[in-house]
Amino acid sequence: MPLYLVNNDEIGVNDLPKERRALIMLFGGTGDLATRKLYPALFNLYKKGNLRDHFAVIGTARNKINDAEFQELVAKSVAKESDDKKLIANFASHFYYEAHDVTDVKHYSVLREKADELDKKYDLQGNRVFYISMAPNFFGTVAKNLKTQNLLTENGEFNRLVIEKPFGRDYESAKQLNDELSASFDENQIFRIDHYLGKEMIQNIEAIRFGNTIFEALWNNRYIDNIQITLAEDLGVEERAGYYDNSGALRDMVQNHIMQIVSLLAMEQPVAFKDVDIRSEKVKALRSLRVYDVVEASANFVRGQYGSDNSNKSYREEDGVPADSNTETFVAGKLLFDNYRWSGTPFYIRTGKKLAGKFTRVDVVFKKPLVDIFAFPQSGSTPLNDNVLTIFVEPNQGFSLRVNAKNNEQGFHTEPVDLEYMEDQKNTPQPYERLIHDVLKGDGTNFSSWPEVASAWKFVDQIRRVWDIQQPNFPNYIPGSMGPVAADELLARDHRQWVYKINR
Ligand code: NDP
Ligand code: BG6
Repeated sequence: MPLYLVNNDEIGVNDLPKERRALIMLFGGTGDLATRKLYPALFNLYKKGNLRDHFAVIGTARNKINDAEFQELVAKSVAKESDDKKLIANFASHFYYEAHDVTDVKHYSVLREKADELDKKYDLQGNRVFYISMAPNFFGTVAKNLKTQNLLTENGEFNRLVIEKPFGRDYESAKQLNDELSASFDENQIFRIDHYLGKEMIQNIEAIRFGNTIFEALWNNRYIDNIQITLAEDLGVEERAGYYDNSGALRDMVQNHIMQIVSLLAMEQPVAFKDVDIRSEKVKALRSLRVYDVVEASANFVRGQYGSDNSNKSYREEDGVPADSNTETFVAGKLLFDNYRWSGTPFYIRTGKKLAGKFTRVDVVFKKPLVDIFAFPQSGSTPLNDNVLTIFVEPNQGFSLRVNAKNNEQGFHTEPVDLEYMEDQKNTPQPYERLIHDVLKGDGTNFSSWPEVASAWKFVDQIRRVWDIQQPNFPNYIPGSMGPVAADELLARDHRQWVYKINR
């Protein structure tokens, strides 16, 4: 008889989802992220019963609005999640607002008093989540003031700090930020958001790998030829030039999202499916990534910037972008691991704006059989195809496995067949819903730990150093393409090609 494991932690009385009890203090409560993502995420947790009667949110920003206006803003931002006006009003009634400048140390006493009052009112038992959804230069200041102004409780089960991205702009600044946070919070209290880790199919990588002998047994350099990770966006920089032009695709997408995906694909099997065990394997994987010297970095990384066409402005013509900007809007690279499992099997990555579509996928390309017994050149038979496991992260969620099979015609010809599974996405929680729920549960699995962040920066800093001394030849790709020609040449040099490609 099969043994079914039930995650009792998730099931409350009468099989209802377990209610989480907490005060959530949100810095940047009127901002874009809060209104577009965080309030809808909290509302969905409320609809499901993970938040019920015992929670309260204090939103803060400098703007002077009152509770009623704040509740209206919250209600508006969740309106598309439900037609039930009463439910929305009940949810919004748990929200309170304090006008507060995070640099005004004395004013934290007002937040403390409000928090203590709401703690009593909602019987929150001292549990606190501090979510900093503001520009990163405030992360350290807020963390320090929370601690020195005694907003952390001693009687509760937890005090947790949630930090948005970006976490530094290189290893040095990330370390400095981490030191600032660590002066007030322990590592297990800090939740560094990487919203890709909240995506369904990114979380599915572990299930696919460690839940299936047919994959895990082959998950190494003996059977895998290469792995390709593509995070493509069709939009350009939009309204974010101020941030993006100082960041570029390498810092914006590679250091965080792509390195996290790489670590999940490359890590060894964790001892148990627990945050400490998973994080320790991810760190080991990232630490065995080869940090390139100047020559290797130049050879193995390609950058690009989009130009214009009839219907698209070039990056340099976008609002807020300097006309001579050398910021990259595209990166492709080849990553090599110096460890027993992956030595000789490259991981190719690419990401960019204004590409051929908005999609994220991972293609795991297996080696061909050593001998192709079906190769009869005289009969015109086609060579065997690569077996490819494709993990579709977005917009569709699922995976497919390409195998070779005989076609049903006269003679003996093989052809590739895709075995495909696509998920019904109706009930898939959005990344921020999952991640906030994990914070409330205290599960750090899907957050970036400091050692992971540090290793990722050390790798990326080397590429950046080389690029900072070399003048790029921008723009070098057209909107709607899959980046510059050099990104294809990167693989062609190794006698390989991208699994997903479009005609140039
Ligand atoms: P916004 O600029 O939209 O919001 C910033 C918030 O901070 C506002 O509520 C603002 O209100 C408040 N604020 C600014 N200065 C102060 C201050 N001195 N004291 C108190 N409050 C202040 O930023 P976003 O919401 O876009 O981004 C927030 C964080 O989330 C950033 O770290 C960003 O990188 C990250 N992020 C954002 C994403 C997005 O889609 N927006 C996606 C991924 C990450 P006021 O000016 O009234 O004080
Ligand atoms: C963010 C980047 O982290 O991820 C943005 O700052 C990017 O530049 C976004 O557009 C992509 O996220 P998603 O979930 O839309 O693929």
